[in-house]
Amino acid sequence: MHRRTPIYTALCKYVREMGLRLHMPGHAGGKGIGDMALQQLAQLDVTEVPGLGDLHILEGIMEEARVLLAQAYGAEQSLFLVNGASSGIHTMFMSLPPGQRVLVPRNAHRSFYAGMILSGVEPLYIPGRISTEYGWCMSVSSHDIINLLNAHPDVRSIFLTSPNYLGVSCDLKEICARVRDLNRPISVFVDEAHGGHFPFHPAYPTPALRAGADAVVNGLHKTLPVLNQGACLHVQDEDYFYRRILPAWSLLTTSSPSYPILASIDLARSLMMLEGEYLLEKALDLSRFYKGKINTIKGLSVLTEEQLINWPGAVELDPLKLLINTGGISLSGLQMASILRDKYSIQVEMYGANQVLAMMSMFHQAQDWELFYRALKDIAWQYPAAKGVRQEIKPVPEPQVVVTPREAYFSKNIEVRLSDCLGKISAEMIAPYPPGIPCLLPGELISQDIYEYLLYLKKQPVSLHGPEDRSLRKIRIIEK
Ligand SMILES: Cc1ncc(COP(=O)(O)O)c(C=O)c1O
Repeated sequence: MHRRTPIYTALCKYVREMGLRLHMPGHAGGKGIGDMALQQLAQLDVTEVPGLGDLHILEGIMEEARVLLAQAYGAEQSLFLVNGASSGIHTMFMSLPPGQRVLVPRNAHRSFYAGMILSGVEPLYIPGRISTEYGWCMSVSSHDIINLLNAHPDVRSIFLTSPNYLGVSCDLKEICARVRDLNRPISVFVDEAHGGHFPFHPAYPTPALRAGADAVVNGLHKTLPVLNQGACLHVQDEDYFYRRILPAWSLLTTSSPSYPILASIDLARSLMMLEGEYLLEKALDLSRFYKGKINTIKGLSVLTEEQLINWPGAVELDPLKLLINTGGISLSGLQMASILRDKYSIQVEMYGANQVLAMMSMFHQAQDWELFYRALKDIAWQYPAAKGVRQEIKPVPEPQVVVTPREAYFSKNIEVRLSDCLGKISAEMIAPYPPGIPCLLPGELISQDIYEYLLYLKKQPVSLHGPEDRSLRKIRIIEK
């Protein structure tokens, strides 16, 4: 049963048996593609011919693969996504009516913002708890969520991100239990983009569905052997699935889904059902061993689950995400990442002011971990003394939503000098990384606090996401 890979098997059969393809895509099975590697991939790039089903019609191989996917994740219903976790997040938002009040974490991925524009919901933001040591937003707490729900009895949906980009999970079990205790019809939607591997080993963080979430998105390509853009969406309520989720998903999903992506999800699901626990166990052992070793390197430290106690609501850590603090050596995160790339040919996932984030996978072997550890040790030895400069982390001021993201998106906007923007409504997102929390989203007031924060940001060595003018000399505002 677990070995079954309906989409992948049907695809291979088609490739084996078909001599002449007189159908889309236009590359005709790779004939029109010059590059050998791409030509091979193009063999698998087909369309909805007999035997290969139709992603939008829940029958045949597509239905069989969908049911197997749901079984693997313990979901009542699941859907394949071929445009990343983003499209699942858009779908969850589009399952809600315009004007509905929803709780949204302030540090959410930008697909949340797109989802809000598409659906027209009214966001209320859950504040993020920021680590002064790492500079990043680490979690949201059940305490803040319940306070918001008590203050706003009309809220019907909560959106959460767990784990976050750094691998830190919030206390979903506690949040879901406390939300249920309120005895109000509130649904919990979770962006678990980075946690698609969690259900396959009991020592990994608690999967969102098991914690009690109503709908969950996994960005499978992020942590499983799945081609980029492969993701899935799970729903625990049949009625909600057929009434609200399926129509929204259908509206947003291409009529020409990539068969290589679908087949890679099918194969990865089978692999995880058969060998996931074994693969994850091996990776966990390596993580424990090498995290211990990295923490003995003078000047460097790697985030461990024990440290999460410092941030309310942060409870579990993905062992395969290594957040390495460079605060005790004379390199910034950017410098460390550049040296790793240029001198050691090691590319990390991300860097911040005082840290780099490395993503390990089930498929990295002991020699890969060793290579990374040795490079870190070498670098720490070459750049010993701490700079003694701690990055100042100024709290991001509270947002004041004036118009919904959707209204802001469709409003006329103009560019003004930063010095002229006080009291106006922003038409742009301005999100400094770190801490990864926007100080402005379109439709929000540029209050005195926000204005001062923008002046402060101009002088900080942070990467700014969103604004057209990244020097912040000018800013786009909504025209009255
Ligand atoms: C937390 C989180 N959610 C959602 C997404 C969107 O995922 P995708 O790129 O698969 O659309 C990302 C992307 O990095 C992410 O980090």
